[in-house]
Amino acid sequence: MKVLATHRYPGPAFDEIGDVEVRALAELEGPRPEAEVLVVANEPVPLDLLPGLRLVANFSVGYDRIDLEELTRRGIAVTNTPGVLSAATADLTFALILAARRRVVEADALVRAGEWRSEWANGIVAEELTGSTLGIVGLGRIGQAVARRAQGFELRVLYAQRTRAETELGEYRELYALLAESDIVSIHTPLTPETRGLFDARRLALLRDGACFVNTARGEIVDETALVAELVAGRLRGGLDVFAHEPTVPAELLALPNVVLTPHLGSATRQTREAMTRIVVDNIMAFERGEPLLTPVTV
Ligand code: 8YV
Repeated sequence: MKVLATHRYPGPAFDEIGDVEVRALAELEGPRPEAEVLVVANEPVPLDLLPGLRLVANFSVGYDRIDLEELTRRGIAVTNTPGVLSAATADLTFALILAARRRVVEADALVRAGEWRSEWANGIVAEELTGSTLGIVGLGRIGQAVARRAQGFELRVLYAQRTRAETELGEYRELYALLAESDIVSIHTPLTPETRGLFDARRLALLRDGACFVNTARGEIVDETALVAELVAGRLRGGLDVFAHEPTVPAELLALPNVVLTPHLGSATRQTREAMTRIVVDNIMAFERGEPLLTPVTV
């Protein structure tokens, strides 16, 4: 089975794919009817160039850039990589929460600039994390991993999502109530037509003064212009790993001390990325053998 992969995906499992060509989609010069499997990282699939496609194995849990309905209509199977990246993404969420709340990056810049002159850090006093209230929007696999870590920091956890869950991990709130009650709000929903632009100016305005807004999900869930306005005004703090037009980051954010910026690192650990490749490859092998897919995505 001919496999086309848009990268040499990390880890040893990739070498188990027999007939694989590594080529970016932008580099395809014409139709490739022989390709039956495509490995992408949440990238739009050029169906006109791949008429023989039977499986899209997505190296990503999110598949918002893949037209699942159209692929399904054409009988093309789709898989993703759920589960294995929840811990890494939850860890990064806490890195951003801690960095933003405790002003770590700002303090690091002060030391590097040679501006640490007294025994006590010059005015870098932050709000305590322990004992504060964390609002989790979307209590799926990653949201739950964040809630479990929150217990170690003695946080009071609230959560909002479409359906109320039977869970000990946090107290359910309607979204508007969660926004008004939380010291930190962290986004863990997928990007869907319902969540696109969910955090608009009106909802962001419900956040408390000084609240910390953390996004490791998708930039498009937030009205970026409205968020930038809040951060520029200094009313909120931010920890942002995702942006509406990656890899472009709004220029206004770059000089702000109240926001910590990372380049979409949620799943970016060696172990997690290798585990994602393992799932991609196991799905391809199952497909080749005519066995059920491990992690199918369906409409
Ligand atoms: C990836 C992600 O880095 O899994 C996701 O949804 O956003 C990240 O793990 C990205 O999608 C590229 O694969």
